[in-house]
Amino acid sequence: MASIPPHPPDTTNTTGTTGTDTTTTAMANKQNGTGRNDGQTPDAALSTDVQQGEDGAPENSVQKRRLPVISVRSLTKTYLLGQTRVRALRGVSLDIYPGEFVAIMGPSGSGKSTFMNLLGCLDRPTSGEYWLMGTAVSKMSPDQLADVRNRKIGFVFQGFNLLSRSSALDNTALPMLYAGLPKEEQQRRARRVLQLVGLGSRAHHKPSQLSGGQQQRVAIARALVNSPALLLADEPTGNLDSRTSVEIMAVLQALNQYGLTIVLVTHEPDIAAYTNRQIHFRDGRIISDEMLAQPRRARAELEVEAVAAPPAGGSTIEIREERL
Ligand SMILES: Nc1ncnc2c1ncn2[C@@H]1O[C@H](COP(=O)(O)OP(=O)(O)OP(=O)(O)O)[C@@H](O)[C@H]1O
Ligand SMILES: [Mg+2]
Repeated sequence: MASIPPHPPDTTNTTGTTGTDTTTTAMANKQNGTGRNDGQTPDAALSTDVQQGEDGAPENSVQKRRLPVISVRSLTKTYLLGQTRVRALRGVSLDIYPGEFVAIMGPSGSGKSTFMNLLGCLDRPTSGEYWLMGTAVSKMSPDQLADVRNRKIGFVFQGFNLLSRSSALDNTALPMLYAGLPKEEQQRRARRVLQLVGLGSRAHHKPSQLSGGQQQRVAIARALVNSPALLLADEPTGNLDSRTSVEIMAVLQALNQYGLTIVLVTHEPDIAAYTNRQIHFRDGRIISDEMLAQPRRARAELEVEAVAAPPAGGSTIEIREERL
C-alpha cells in the first residue's frame, strides 16, 4: 500500500488537465500513440508535463512524479442523528492518480458512499483536507463546490437517475443546461458522447424504451458530457444482471483506457476485478489498498462469449475513439 505523504500535494496544476477537457486530452494522447492501454498502471503519457513531486511515497515511480487527481488527508465525517453521532469516516488518507481505475469496497455502512459524496463535492468533511487536481476543495463555499462539481466531476449512480419523460439525448445534455452553450452545440456534444458509449442510434428513446444497461450508458454519457477529469460511480452495476454489468464495465474500462480517472464503489469482487486498484473500507477507515496486476478485461470476455453464443441482434457494446 502506498504510504501517505505528510503534507499537502503541490498545488500547481501542471497536468494540463483543466477539468474541461481531460477526456479529450486523453483521447488525443491515445491518438498520438502515447495513451494508456495496458490497463494496469497509469501510463507515462499523461504525466509528461507533470512536475516531480517531493512528497510522494507511492510505490509506483510513474505515479510518484504525477499530481494526484484526488488527494485526501485525515478525512472525517460525523453525522448528527438526533443526539447520536455517527462517525461515518474516521480519518481517511489516500492519493488517486490520473488514469487510475479504483474500486472502493467494504461492508454496508463502512463509509463508501459517504467517502464518494465527499470526493464528489456533494458534501463537506467534518475535518481533514481534500485536494482535487491540486485545488483545496475542503474549504470551498457551497457555490464554489457546485462549480467544481459541475466542471470536473461526472457521477453515475446505481439507479441511473434519468428523467423519464426526456429522451436519451436530452438526459445526456442536462448537465450543460447551465454552461451557457448554444442549444445546437449542446445537442451536438450530447450526440457525440452518446455515440461514444454506443448509443448513437438510441438518442431519441426515452428511458422506458431502453434496457437497464442502455439506461446506465445514458447515465454514463450524461456524466461525460462536460468532459470531467474524474468519474465517480456508486454501485453502477448494482441494478444490472451479470452480463449487462460486464458490458458496463467494458464501457468504463474503455473510457479509462482513454485516460479518464474512475472511482467506483462496488460490493462485488467480480466487478472490482475489472479495475486496477482495490481499496477496502471498514468502519470508516481504509483497511487495505492494493494494485491489481492483471485486471479482468470486460471487452475481451464479451467477445469470447459472443463467439461462443452470439447475442441476438449483435453486440450492444461499441466504443468509438472520438473527440468529444
Ligand atoms: N445522512 C446521514 N445521516 C446520518 N447517518 C448517515 C447518513 N449517511 C450515512 N450515514 C451513516 O454513516 C455510515 C456510513 O454510511 P454509508 O452510506 O457511507 O455506507 P456505505 O458503505 O455506502 O454502505 P452501503 O454499502 O450500504 O451503501 C452508516 O452507519 C450510515 O448509517
Ligand atoms: Mg453506499
